[in-house]
Amino acid sequence: MCGIVGAVAQRNIVSVLIEGLRRLEYRGYDSCGVAVLGENGPRRARSVARVADLDEQVHEGHFDGITGIAHTRWATHGAPVTDNAHPIFSKDALALVHNGIIENYETLREMLRGKGYEFVSQTDTEVIAHLIHSVYRGDLFAAVREAIAQLHGAYAIAVLHKDQPHTVVGARQGSPLVVGLGNGENFLASDALALAGSTERFIFLEEGDVCELSLDGVRIVDRDGNEAQREVRQVAAYGGAVELGPYRHFMQKEIFEQPRAITDTIPQADSFDPSIFGEDAGKVFAEIDSLLILACGTSYYSGLTAKYWLESIAKIPTQVEIASEYRYRESVPNPKSLVVVISQSGETADTLAALKHAQSLGHKHTLAVCNVGTSAMVRQTELSFLTHAGREIGVASTKAFTTQLVALFVLAATLAKLRGHLSDEQEAGYLKQLRHLPAALNSVLALEPQIIAWSEEFSRKEHALFLGRGLHYPIALEGALKLKEISYIHAEAYPAGELKHGPLALVTEAMPVVTVAPNDALLEKLKSNIQEVRARGGELYVFADADTKIVNDEGLHVIRMPEHYGLLSPILHVVPLQLLAYHTACARGTDVDKPRNLAKSVTVE
Ligand code: F6R
Repeated sequence: MCGIVGAVAQRNIVSVLIEGLRRLEYRGYDSCGVAVLGENGPRRARSVARVADLDEQVHEGHFDGITGIAHTRWATHGAPVTDNAHPIFSKDALALVHNGIIENYETLREMLRGKGYEFVSQTDTEVIAHLIHSVYRGDLFAAVREAIAQLHGAYAIAVLHKDQPHTVVGARQGSPLVVGLGNGENFLASDALALAGSTERFIFLEEGDVCELSLDGVRIVDRDGNEAQREVRQVAAYGGAVELGPYRHFMQKEIFEQPRAITDTIPQADSFDPSIFGEDAGKVFAEIDSLLILACGTSYYSGLTAKYWLESIAKIPTQVEIASEYRYRESVPNPKSLVVVISQSGETADTLAALKHAQSLGHKHTLAVCNVGTSAMVRQTELSFLTHAGREIGVASTKAFTTQLVALFVLAATLAKLRGHLSDEQEAGYLKQLRHLPAALNSVLALEPQIIAWSEEFSRKEHALFLGRGLHYPIALEGALKLKEISYIHAEAYPAGELKHGPLALVTEAMPVVTVAPNDALLEKLKSNIQEVRARGGELYVFADADTKIVNDEGLHVIRMPEHYGLLSPILHVVPLQLLAYHTACARGTDVDKPRNLAKSVTVE
């Protein structure tokens, strides 16, 4: 997704800008660019290739400047071609980079054409550049404030003007933007990660903020134009670039990091104590009568899994909604419901907007399950639980998902205890199972060679069906999502009992049917569903718990999982599905870590 970097310093900042873009690369982009202020105004380089190509261009062109902005673009308005890459110029005087979407760009474009501005890109961004230029009267900060009052939509922007050689102005509304504070130099970025190595002191701008970076300081005003004092946070956790080590791709590395990530996420305490969700969690949990979970994509599937746990262990009614749907439908708010947002990045625009929507409807109790402690979601919720997956680089979420599941299981057990549904014996049992989970995961990861053998078969298919039941239906959904997003094989998931209500018509020998088969209460039902597929000549690929006694047969391929792992079984069963998607994608030669059209952190609607 789009990324912004900006800098004002007393040294050549080109390398800071390029390094910032490199750190944002993993999020996915299809073009990039940089502009620095020189004596004759802004000078830019743009590329529809990688940041490495941009780096070559700036070296060959001897780019040098103490003020600059840079961008990675993930196309929304206009194809990924050089003319649409940012920075976008206005009259060769002003340069601008933008994340987000401007909804009223057509009206503004007509108005600006009327004033003589020519448009050379198909982007919505170009209207912002010309709009600011049209109201500029020697004060860029004032011009930006005047211009953004006319924008509808979401944006984070960074702007510079040739007449103000030591100034970068930023503004945010609906897209994240952070200021990095240095000594005699200051920075701007859409994510603090971009500035690792340049500073560890950050100001996370709030909605509606406009900031002006100069050599000796940063000025911020809020949406009402009042001078704002924002907290300066020390963030040292961003370290250097993540190494690939012995792995072929980050996705593979991250799949294998899951035992460690889960160990780091499991709370240390010997009991399920609400305080791990925040100081006031005990009080909040005592007040609530239900949960409303809001999330997108893989995070939504962890919410769906959690619903089974929350209703069966904690006996608390739980609703799970896709954030982008919830925010636009009329719902019946229940102020006694705890709103839980789940997100790896904590910046997903749809989930953030859904959270704000829920709050505007009167939901006062909110909790974020998130992998980034400094993210907007964690800052905007009353309670939070941080997963400790570590940075996830692969676009397809793996370790973030399993650590979310751990967090949500802990939430279910904690609520169960507070609501009187958890005996001491059960509590000790769940804690023991959680602590043994990393070892159990290692034995599942050891199945990789068998999965590689299957992936050869899968790589020649164009469609696949995934089946699961109960607690493992969301795992089938997640398996199908993983396969489609990285291998581009069309995959659908169904609760196995639904097969006969339609999808069975698709079953032929050309359609592999992947089945998640834990030894739980629904096993006998699932076995009947397996027979329905076999009777129609379908090829089954079953991940079966060792104690299910499902064995290889004609049209029935089985990989044996460890023995049934009880309520935590989904965390084990998703891992072979991740590996199957990964190795199938490798066999097809797709770009595993950066699948086409996708971005890591989806900060636009
Ligand atoms: C799929 C995937 C996405 C994300 C979704 C939400 O592998 O990663 O579906 O889960 O975009 O992202 P977060 O969790 O950052 O809110």
